[in-house]
Amino acid sequence: MPRPRSVYRAARIAEPDLVEGYEACRRAVRRAGGTEYATAQLMPPALRPALWAIYAAGRVVDDLADTGDPTRREARCDAWIGAFTEDLRRGAGSDPVRRALVHTVRTWDLPTDGLQAAFAATRADIGGRTHPTWQAWSAYAQLVGTSFFAQGAVLLAAAGVYLPLRLRYLDAARQWVDALGVIDNLEDLAEDTAQGRITLPLEVLAAHGLSAADLITGGAANGQVAALVETLAAQARTWLDQPELFEALPPALAVVARAVTDVGRLRLARIERAGPELLCGKPRLPRIAAERILLPARLEAYVAWKFLTPIGPAQSPSARATGRPPRVDRLLPAPRSETPRPPRPHPSGARPPRRPAERLPRHVAVVMDGNGRWATDRGLPRTEGHRAGGKSMQDVVHGALEIGLRHLTLYAFSTENWRRQPEEIDGLLTLVRESVLEEGILDHDVRFRWAGSAEGLPQDVLADLVRLEHDTGNRGALTLTLCINYGGRIELTQAAASLARAAAAGRLDPAHISERTFAAHLALPDLPDVDLLWRTGGEQRTSNLLPWHAAYAELHFSDTRWPDVDRRDLWHAMDAYAHRTRNFGTSPESGSGPPVADPVRPTAERPARDAPGR
Ligand code: IPE
Ligand code: IPE
Ligand code: MG
Repeated sequence: MPRPRSVYRAARIAEPDLVEGYEACRRAVRRAGGTEYATAQLMPPALRPALWAIYAAGRVVDDLADTGDPTRREARCDAWIGAFTEDLRRGAGSDPVRRALVHTVRTWDLPTDGLQAAFAATRADIGGRTHPTWQAWSAYAQLVGTSFFAQGAVLLAAAGVYLPLRLRYLDAARQWVDALGVIDNLEDLAEDTAQGRITLPLEVLAAHGLSAADLITGGAANGQVAALVETLAAQARTWLDQPELFEALPPALAVVARAVTDVGRLRLARIERAGPELLCGKPRLPRIAAERILLPARLEAYVAWKFLTPIGPAQSPSARATGRPPRVDRLLPAPRSETPRPPRPHPSGARPPRRPAERLPRHVAVVMDGNGRWATDRGLPRTEGHRAGGKSMQDVVHGALEIGLRHLTLYAFSTENWRRQPEEIDGLLTLVRESVLEEGILDHDVRFRWAGSAEGLPQDVLADLVRLEHDTGNRGALTLTLCINYGGRIELTQAAASLARAAAAGRLDPAHISERTFAAHLALPDLPDVDLLWRTGGEQRTSNLLPWHAAYAELHFSDTRWPDVDRRDLWHAMDAYAHRTRNFGTSPESGSGPPVADPVRPTAERPARDAPGR
């Protein structure tokens, strides 16, 4: 098998020892015969060696746990994992696979806890762990499978390609990974049972009148095994089908995910055809049919990755900005870490007005306008206005915490703002990011969310946004939604497209599309209605901010330019709101008006029947 020289050139791996290490990994992945090798071929050349190393190491530990003298397996696993830990410390690997893996970890500055957890789980599996339920199976599959999958995601982030896996896609991502796990388990049924191992959840076996022993000793009736395989294949097929997840991925990754899915369907077709024969041997993947999927995918991926260049450890945009590649080591929300700090008091000592909570808005959305004019009036460049505006933003967040506001949405960059000068756009995005990141807003009890479209946003901005969402996922006093690259009409258009897709796929009956169904297809389906929409800077328009959520909002316009605003203006706006009467279409005679600040819009809708999968 000739060395792929261009790949090593792209990855800047020249040292013969290292090339030898990576080659060992590549051979191991290829030998394993799964779809991993083909998947790696769809990735940019610079990333392939790292992927080989990560997969190969997983395979090595798996083999140590599964083969050879059963009494020595634990010791051999421990020795390998121990040596890896030691090699990491030394910064050099003492066998070819570890050499490549240590090099990968160091080159890309990868966190290793995911890898270590996967190794530990594989080692704990020695002696044949069984999974009584789907839940237990999935937890294990996620630990082993997702850790390697997560390493891939981490690697991409280090390369400046961030997986914009918003929390709402996590279930879909888990199901997709689970589907691949079921396929692997079914394909390995003969090998596993020959070794006395059952990897499938026992509850599924039981539902088909089967026990682990039946499969291991060959005592299972063909009909029962056929039914079991049919059920599992159908389950995997459903889990594989995650069109919305794919749409959330950057185009190049969507190509990869679709190809893996299509090959997955092909594997399932072979599995179904084999039925009870799976107990006799692994079904073979028809090469030509697989190539029919992979060849065009390679071409498509090649083109799609071109748009995401440059990719390389020393070239990622975040690496350029910060001098280091970003570290993103978890796909799940971080546990609540340190105790959040209390809000910083206003320098004047001002305190929020006391108003009964029911008279205060729950959700305030702000069009922070007037930065440019503020700067121009002072003979400063517009960017200076945005810098000063960043300070106002911080003070207003502290004020929101002090008054106990639950939802604050700040409009920082609209889809229309791309029409400004590139220097202003750059400055604006950098300053918004800095005011959230560097001034410690998120040390407080603030859950950060981002509303907007990924398209056009620099990868490092995107990476920060998604990471912040994820890191503050468990915070709760105030939800701060930052609208960056946000456009209300785009949001509505995308919801409509999402509904249309669900209907076309038969998951949604158009007759049952209600307001609630529609809202469930918005990008942030749980964002509550806006009670108060406040714009500073003297203009009186909403400029495409949250058209769905603000349909019944009270409007408040103030002349102060945003850089001159502080938390007292927020409190003033909220106070003005407290004096408003909200009717929601009722009249005083009807006597059924909802209480102030609790907008329950009358609705004749039926509850949504579909589960849009978000
Ligand atoms: C608001 O200030 C900030 C953004 C639009 C991002 P502007 O930059 O619009 O300021 P004016 O309206 O030109 O004064
Ligand atoms: C709205 O302000 C957008 C933001 C505050 C982010 P603009 O200043 O861009 O709005 P228009 O163009 O004056 O309506
Ligand atoms: Mg403006």
